[in-house]
Amino acid sequence: MAKILDRKRLVPNLHLLEVHAPEVARKCRPGQFVIIMPDEHGERIPLSIADWDAERGSVTAVFLVVGTSTRKLAALKAGDEVPVFVGPLGRPSEIGSFGTVILAAGCFGIGALWPTARALKAAGNKVVALIDAKAEHLVYWKDRYLSVCDKVRFSSRDHALASKDFVPRPLEELLKAEAPVARVIAVGCTYLMYACAQATKPLGVRTIVSLNPIMVDGTGMCGACRCTAAGKTKFACVDGPDFDAHQLDWEELFTRRKSYFDDEIRSLCRWEETELP
Ligand SMILES: Cc1cc2nc3c(=O)[nH]c(=O)nc-3n(C[C@H](O)[C@H](O)[C@H](O)COP(=O)(O)OP(=O)(O)OC[C@H]3O[C@@H](n4cnc5c(N)ncnc54)[C@H](O)[C@@H]3O)c2cc1C
Ligand code: FES
Repeated sequence: MAKILDRKRLVPNLHLLEVHAPEVARKCRPGQFVIIMPDEHGERIPLSIADWDAERGSVTAVFLVVGTSTRKLAALKAGDEVPVFVGPLGRPSEIGSFGTVILAAGCFGIGALWPTARALKAAGNKVVALIDAKAEHLVYWKDRYLSVCDKVRFSSRDHALASKDFVPRPLEELLKAEAPVARVIAVGCTYLMYACAQATKPLGVRTIVSLNPIMVDGTGMCGACRCTAAGKTKFACVDGPDFDAHQLDWEELFTRRKSYFDDEIRSLCRWEETELP
C-alpha cells in the first residue's frame, strides 16, 4: 500500500497527487511514469512523474479527470492509501546539450514536462516553453516554468495571456523566431502532440513526443500499448514512452486509443450509479 500525502485540484479537472513512495522517488528520472491502482477493485493506470522529492520520499503526478479511475483518484484525500504504486517505468527522456529546445505542453503535459524542463536547463540548453491551455484559468505551474525557462509563451483559445492563437500556430512562430531549433518535445493529449509533429515535419526539426496509449502491465508483457515507429512494432511502456514523432503511425495510435470506448462509458455509468460517494 502507498499513502497519499496530498491530492488537490490545481485547476478545474486537473489534480495533483503526491504519494509516499521512497523506493520510487530515489530512482525517478525525467520522462518516466508510474502505474497506480486507485482501489482494490480498480484498474492499473499510468501517470507521468511530474516531480519527486527523494528526501521526503514522495512522487508527484498531475492527472486529468476523464473516466472511472481518474474520478476515483480525484476522490482520494491525504492519509488514504492506494494498493498499487509502481515505478519508475519507461525509458527516461534523453537529456543532453542540444542548443535551443522548445517544450510544447498542454493539459497534464504541463506537469509531465516539468522535470524535463528543469533537466534541460541544467544541461545548458536554451529552453523555450510553449504552454497550451483552453483558457487562462487552466494554466498551472506558470511560476515553475518562468523560474527555469529562458522564454515562456502561452497559447490559449480564449485569447488571454497575450495569445492570439493556439497550437500549432504559436509553435510555427516560435520555430521561426528561435531558429535554429535543435528539438521540440511535446507532451499532452495525443492531438496536441500530433499537431506539433505536423508543424515540425516540413522543417525537419527533431520532435519527441511522450505517448499515452492504453497500458495494462507497463512492463512489455501484455501488448496493450503496441504502436508502430519507423515501421516496427514497439511497446510504449518499455521502448518509450518517448518516441520520434515523425516516425510514428499516428492513425494506429488514434484508433487503438478508442478500443475500449464503450466499456469505459459503461464503467463510468456503473460507478456513478453504484459507488459514487
Ligand atoms: C505513459 C503514460 C503516461 C500518462 N500520463 C498521464 C498523466 O500524467 N496524467 C494524466 O492525466 N493522464 C496520463 N496518462 C493517461 C491516463 O493513463 C489515462 O487518462 C487514464 O488511464 C484514464 O483512465 P480513466 O479510467 O479515468 O478513463 P478511461 O475510462 O480509461 O477513459 C475515458 C475516456 O477518456 C478518454 N481519455 C483517456 N485519457 C485521456 C486523456 N489523457 N485526454 C483526453 N481524453 C482521454 C478515453 O479515450 C476514453 O474515451 C498517461 C498515459 C500513459 C500511457
Ligand atoms: S502496457 Fe503491456 S506491453 Fe506495454
